[in-house]
Amino acid sequence: MDHDGGDLYHNRMICMLEAVWGEGFLSPGGPDEVARVVEGADLSGKSILDIGCGAGGIDIALCRNHGAGYVCGIDVEDPVLDHARALVAKVGLTSQIGCLKVVPGPLPFPPATFDVVFSKDSIVHIPDKHALMLEVFRVLKPGGWFIASDWLIGHDGQPSQEMADYIAAEGLDFGMASPARYRAAMQAAGFADISLRSRNEWYRQAARSELERLKGATGAEAAKLVGQDFVDQNIAIWSRMIPVLDKGEHCPTHLRGRKPS
Ligand SMILES: C[S@@+](CC[C@H](N)C(=O)[O-])C[C@H]1O[C@@H](n2cnc3c(N)ncnc32)[C@H](O)[C@@H]1O
Repeated sequence: MDHDGGDLYHNRMICMLEAVWGEGFLSPGGPDEVARVVEGADLSGKSILDIGCGAGGIDIALCRNHGAGYVCGIDVEDPVLDHARALVAKVGLTSQIGCLKVVPGPLPFPPATFDVVFSKDSIVHIPDKHALMLEVFRVLKPGGWFIASDWLIGHDGQPSQEMADYIAAEGLDFGMASPARYRAAMQAAGFADISLRSRNEWYRQAARSELERLKGATGAEAAKLVGQDFVDQNIAIWSRMIPVLDKGEHCPTHLRGRKPS
C-alpha cells in the first residue's frame, strides 16, 4: 500500500475508502452500522470522546442521528483531521464537534471527562489494549460507557499464512488482538457489564458486495480520482480479506463496558 508523506490514511486513501464506504467514513457500514454499535445506548446530550475519528462521518452521525451533545474526535494524522474539520464545517456542526490531533499514548484529558468513549475500527491501530483500556476507564465519568467496534483476530496464536498475507497487504500497522485479550484488558481496567458481539457474519457478506462495487462502477469512478493502479491495489486487499473473514480469523466485533458508578 502507498504511504504519502508518511501518513497511512493519506488523501488518496481517504478518497478511495470514501468511495466504498461513503463521505466521511473510513470503515464499513456507514450510519446504519454506527446505529448498530450504539444500539440501546442513550447518547442524548452526552459528551463523547471518539478515538480515531478519521474523516468525521462517524461524529456527524453521533450528533445528527443519536443526539450526542458534544463529540471530541481525536486522531493521529493530519489528512484525516483536515478532512473531518472541513466536513464538520460544511454540515454546520462546528459548535458540537471538535477534531483534535493527539500522539499515540496516554489520552490528553483529565480523569472523568466524558460520558461515553466511542471508537470505530481504530483501536486495531493501538497494539497495547491493556494500556488503552486503562486510559479509557480513567477519562470516563463514573457510570459512563465504552462503546466501540473494532477489527479483531480470532485467536492469539500465530496468524495463518492467509491472515499474515492479508495484514501485510493492508500495510496499515494493524496490531490485532483476540476477543479474549480485549475482554481481559477491559476486566483488568475495572469495566463491568462487558459484552462482545461478533460482526463477522455481517461483514463477510458486506465485504463481498464492496468488492463487486470496487470491480464495477464504484471502482471506475474512484479511479478517476485515485488512479486505476490504486483501485487495483484495493481490489487485491479485499480479495485477500474475504477468505480470512470466511475462516473467522478476521472478526469485526462490537465492544461494550461500563465504568461502575
Ligand atoms: C479505519 S480508520 C477509522 C476512522 C473512523 N473511526 C471511521 O470509522 O470512519 C482508523 C483511524 O484510526 C486512526 N488512528 C491510528 N492510530 C491511532 C491512535 N493511536 N489514536 C487515535 N487514532 C488513531 C487513524 O489515523 C485512522 O484515522
